[in-house]
Amino acid sequence: MVTTNNRIEVLHGVNLDMLGKRAPEHYGTLTLIELEVRIRHWSRALGLEATFFRTNAEDEYVERLHQAPELADGLILNPGAWTHYSYAIRDALEIAGMPAVEVHLSDVESREEWRRHSVIADVVSARVHGKGADGYHDALELLARELGVEAPPAA
Ligand code: DQA
Repeated sequence: MVTTNNRIEVLHGVNLDMLGKRAPEHYGTLTLIELEVRIRHWSRALGLEATFFRTNAEDEYVERLHQAPELADGLILNPGAWTHYSYAIRDALEIAGMPAVEVHLSDVESREEWRRHSVIADVVSARVHGKGADGYHDALELLARELGVEAPPAA
């Protein structure tokens, strides 16, 4: 049996499908597809394989987290506004029990008060925010280290 430890599922939550159309001063100008192309490219360079899931439905996000241990070895989550109040997503992530990094494109610590609170903070191994798309690169590097994945030789 071939075992892998390099599969990363990137879970985009509510309103992330509107990237490219929403507040560029906070979220930049990349569309979600353009962001995913970058993430896939960075992943390969680090020896990781990225898959993507996006939804605006909280129950679908929870269902995907229930399946996550079969689908992936590590998770990158940007649950959008759910970050700040969804205990259902927090509990599903705890049940998944796998390496996970929380990413926010914008600097949630220096915006409205309510964005400073993350209900998933205690069930992730790291949090990255305010670095735009590059924050996903940081998250991939953190997961590669946590999973013990080595980058392939540069092509
Ligand atoms: C976000 C920050 C959240 O506060 C917001 O609701 C989002 C996007 C970010 O990536 O900066 O939808 O998660």
